Amino acid sequence: MSVPPVSPDSRLPRHVAIIMDGNGRWAKQRYLPRPAGHRAGVTSVRRTVEQCIAKGIEVLTLFAFSSENWRRPPQEVSLLMELFIASLERETRKLHENGVRLRVIGERTAFAPRLQDKIAEAEAMTAANRGLHLVIAANYGGRWDIAQASRQLAIEVAEGRLRPDEITSERLASRLVLADLPEPDLFIRTGGEQRISNFLLWQLAYTELYFTPRLWPDFDETAFGEALASFASRQRRFGYTGDQIEQITQRQVPPDPTQT
Ligand code: IPE
Ligand code: IPE
Ligand code: MG
Repeated sequence: MSVPPVSPDSRLPRHVAIIMDGNGRWAKQRYLPRPAGHRAGVTSVRRTVEQCIAKGIEVLTLFAFSSENWRRPPQEVSLLMELFIASLERETRKLHENGVRLRVIGERTAFAPRLQDKIAEAEAMTAANRGLHLVIAANYGGRWDIAQASRQLAIEVAEGRLRPDEITSERLASRLVLADLPEPDLFIRTGGEQRISNFLLWQLAYTELYFTPRLWPDFDETAFGEALASFASRQRRFGYTGDQIEQITQRQVPPDPTQT
């Protein structure tokens, strides 16, 4: 069984995953319509991306639209789609110039063709970059991700290329949409709710969770710094004891699961 790396210098998360929640309440507090909150949320996205680039974080995954958000009033869904298109149009070139690789995860066939084209264009433009991986989860659901990975394996079994006993958690994980990236080290949810809301269910198995009451449009550099400080203060044990982890850290070598 593979063991997540425990590295002594892992004070900075390689992968940060964020549920950007609280735009609507931010607007309500100001007697503004909800779209104003979503617009302010885009500013917060820009600021957070800049922070990740400055700090050398490798992957930033942002939950922009869940597979359940279609349940919202149609005007709000349309506004969110328009904002998505406008942000891609406005920001892609700058992201590209900053070496950012953009990837959108989720069931994108549900989007209007125009949005699907914009997404494909932005991904193609930035595909060869070597800087921050910026992952936007849109019409994404953790259960969908596990289902689509299972479907891939089922097809292989049906075609005789895989035996059912070869289905392991590693093989299933290799078919998830973020299989090529490190799993999230730090999960942040703004807006005060303490739930996962069908975000990266599989990948969050050993992620450090951080919840803040701060609403997404108010999530600034200081707030991000607080989340990173909280992460840095934690001991990640991955099933080992605290003493084992301290020994591993002193030896500065990754743990060997066969030598316990
Ligand atoms: C998060 O903010 C943005 C999306 C879900 C698209 P909300 O719109 O959920 O804000 P609240 O939770 O209503 O305050
Ligand atoms: C989660 O927020 C989804 C996104 C931030 C895109 P929601 O506001 O939709 O979550 P619930 O409904 O409160 O769980
Ligand atoms: Mg919400």
